[in-house]
Amino acid sequence: MPHAPGTEAASYRIDGGDPDRLPLVVEANGAHDRERLVAWLRDRAEWVQGTLARNGALLLRGFDVPDAAAFESVARAVDPGVRADFLGTPSARLTESVFRASDVPGGYPIAPHCEMSYLRTPPRRVFFCCLSEPRVGTGETPLADFRRVWRALDPALRERFARGGIVIVRTFRGPASRRKRRFLLERRDDFFATRDRAVVEEKCAVEGIAFEWTGDDGLRLRIPQPVTRTHPETGETVWYNQHAAHHLASSAWTYPKIFRLRPTLHHLPWWQVVRASVAVKRRAPADQLAYYCTYTDGSAIPDADVRALLETIWRHTVLTPWRCCDVLAIDNRAVAHGRMPFRGPRQVVACLA
Ligand SMILES: [Fe+2]
Repeated sequence: MPHAPGTEAASYRIDGGDPDRLPLVVEANGAHDRERLVAWLRDRAEWVQGTLARNGALLLRGFDVPDAAAFESVARAVDPGVRADFLGTPSARLTESVFRASDVPGGYPIAPHCEMSYLRTPPRRVFFCCLSEPRVGTGETPLADFRRVWRALDPALRERFARGGIVIVRTFRGPASRRKRRFLLERRDDFFATRDRAVVEEKCAVEGIAFEWTGDDGLRLRIPQPVTRTHPETGETVWYNQHAAHHLASSAWTYPKIFRLRPTLHHLPWWQVVRASVAVKRRAPADQLAYYCTYTDGSAIPDADVRALLETIWRHTVLTPWRCCDVLAIDNRAVAHGRMPFRGPRQVVACLA
């Protein structure tokens, strides 16, 4: 059982019966005060970091965290290195470092992925905070321990992926473009936080990303990724990439797994919309798509492999329904996050360290 030195048993309840609990839950037990929580986390920094490396995620529940500023102060207590200058951090922010978790329409599930795995040095922590719970659908942030996923993958499939790695191709529209166009292209200045082409090229060079300018002042990136990394603290091999989130068919093929985990009729209409959208994308010219994914040599990843991978990921995925004021801290070097579909208001915000 995890041990938090000096834990005031009467104040906080630690759900530590299972050493593999994902996430480990620390719940207010009468003492909801945020300042006290911040001090508690700072005093037990070694335990917090050890828990994140072992369990992979920590959920702080029942505390007074009503807004983005309060969330940022809790996140900084877990990791003082919270910052917003990772390449791809949304430029629209609620505080210096907090941003909306995703602008992807609520009906689209997001398959579990490691945040910003396209960077040479991705964030070590991802933090989420629920400022308002979804009313319809489920809208959880699914968690999958990608160390377990790697170990569970079929060896032949692992070999095919690991041989040369994968490449993710992302296309952006230009800064002057107002419409998102058919496939919801992002603006390149939103992603790079600059309109200056020279700065964009410099950032690509630093990250080892190949680029080409497109005719409409847009940009196309070819981002090579190994499919695994070694966890810097535990030495474990981690399935570490964004393949599942960036494969064209992923959102549609993810729905059957979602129905299994959350059998609700609310998801049915969106499933049909997403299936139709994926069918259109699979027939569209590749250079018009916001993103797609192949092996590094450009050859297509067989559908059977993608389905097998999604199956393994979702078999290792856990769902914890959001409650207002929840703060979730994730070890981004081990545990992937995604998003279940939902309708209506749901405000989940994020920051990185
Ligand atoms: Fe993400």
